[in-house]
Amino acid sequence: MTQHGVDLLLVLILASLGLSALAIFLSMSRHRRQHAPSAMPPSDDVASEAARKVLREFEKNGQSVDAALVTWSPETLRKILADELPDAQVIVVSNREPYIHNETKDGGVELVVPASGLVSALEPITRACAGTWIAYGGGSADRRMADRNDRVQVPPGNPSYTLRRVWLSDDEYQGYYLGFANEGLWPLCHIAFTRPIFRESDWEAYEAANRKFAETVVAEARNERPIVLVQDYHFALLPRMIRERLPEAIVITFWHIPWPNSEVFSICPWRERILDGLLGSSIIGFHTQFHANNFTESVDRFMESRIERADAAISYGGQMTLVHAYPISIEWPVELLESLPGVEECRTRTRERFGIPGEAKLCIGVERLDYTKGVLDRFHALEELFKRHPETVGKVVFLQIAAPSRGTLPAYKQLHEECLHLADEINQRYGSDDYKPVVMVAEHHKQADIYELYRAADICLVTSLHDGMNLVAKEFVASRDDEQGVLILSTFAGASRELLEALIVNPYDAAMTSDAMLQAITMGADEQRERMRRMREIVRDNNVYRWAGSMLLDAARLRKRGELDRVTVSDQPSAPTGENVVSMFERKQAVGFR
Ligand code: F6P
Repeated sequence: MTQHGVDLLLVLILASLGLSALAIFLSMSRHRRQHAPSAMPPSDDVASEAARKVLREFEKNGQSVDAALVTWSPETLRKILADELPDAQVIVVSNREPYIHNETKDGGVELVVPASGLVSALEPITRACAGTWIAYGGGSADRRMADRNDRVQVPPGNPSYTLRRVWLSDDEYQGYYLGFANEGLWPLCHIAFTRPIFRESDWEAYEAANRKFAETVVAEARNERPIVLVQDYHFALLPRMIRERLPEAIVITFWHIPWPNSEVFSICPWRERILDGLLGSSIIGFHTQFHANNFTESVDRFMESRIERADAAISYGGQMTLVHAYPISIEWPVELLESLPGVEECRTRTRERFGIPGEAKLCIGVERLDYTKGVLDRFHALEELFKRHPETVGKVVFLQIAAPSRGTLPAYKQLHEECLHLADEINQRYGSDDYKPVVMVAEHHKQADIYELYRAADICLVTSLHDGMNLVAKEFVASRDDEQGVLILSTFAGASRELLEALIVNPYDAAMTSDAMLQAITMGADEQRERMRRMREIVRDNNVYRWAGSMLLDAARLRKRGELDRVTVSDQPSAPTGENVVSMFERKQAVGFR
């Protein structure tokens, strides 16, 4: 028999298997419907695994884009949008805005790009999609710079998308952002042993702020079917609110921080409301599979839902939500690198600027001043290094850049004081008139300045106690086109799942981190090159365009499924019968979405 004949036979066998499985499923589901508990939505009937598998195979074979083989760039994103989601309007929603306008002392206006992984990831995406970005207008000159519709065209000087600012009163900001989001959800989701604080008034403000953003999304939507990219833990209720107002929207929610196990999550007094809100999404994304699993477990435990593990989907209230891991990343190549000086010049400039002796190894840490980042822990590791290897005293300098963050909250104030105190102690114990082992600069730095530091450093330490991804690790790698420099990376940062050639440490173990520091200090140029080269390949291939592109492709498949379902329903002589509803649901289940 010819190859063509074999293929044909295989297709026929699969098709007949599929049809019999479907027939078995339909008869089983009819039976099940008669016995189903009435509280469950009709679409929650149990599906036939066999039928699903066969049909999923068909769908897979018919996929037009294989994510793994694509070169991801802004162009790829634009093509996905044009081909797969024509006319779709992309709306991004985040608390933090990508461009903040602040008043200066002399009455002028300065532009600040905030220290935020979310912003560095989403900005190139929104530019590529020419979308609309809705965010809280927190800058002191934000109102002055917005038009009468509260919009600004950005990036300044080369506008490619619209920033729509949302205004919040001081009380709203206090309750929603500082209170519920950052004193409640933030410590709840990070294992950093800071107690979450839950206040009724904060919850009310959180709900009200989510509603305000939902209204803004509706106002900005040009039609009934936008693609809304909801960002982060500030907006757990927003997906449901959007779904109620724009039922045909595709809502992709990305949770940028870890999701705790269901036992930890259970302490949140509004846990069901949060899950219900998030399940208004078409897709919920996490950085790692581990966090996606934790979320699914929480839903399984607290909500009347059905979990379709094989499809990574949750069926709740008659609606399907996909729960997937999409590891976030950065743009590649990094545009601003083009305007930076060479590595040698960056080294010289940085050493002069911070008074670092020429022969000393330069370790850097760059982050928001946050208790989840393990800043104190890396200072302890440095001390440990000095204790165990006194010969390193005088030969290592640690430069810590810490952007002030959430500074009015007690936990953050306390951390700031502790960091300054410990840095002082180490400097007194091990420093001298012309040698300061720890240089701590608690100031906001521009992205270009940060990249200059990355290029100047011998070692970059990312020692988060817990982190969704951590983009500093990826930025450091991207900045090193000289293929030199060593990354020390916490095993509790999502980035450690990808950057396997980093020196991976447990930041709670100061001895282990100090060993890694010693290894880094003494590592030869060849080994550095080998490790860095591999990590650069990973960041290049899994760049931020791939992150967004994978979600958009999944969204496109969802939309196509929805359209197919509408056709199926309108083909029917009357309103869908129970059986039609089941077969629609079954097909959604059966084809899978990836
Ligand atoms: O890490 C979570 C996160 O929301 C990031 O996505 C973002 O980079 C950071 O926190 C910013 O925090 P804030 O906006 O509170 O300064």
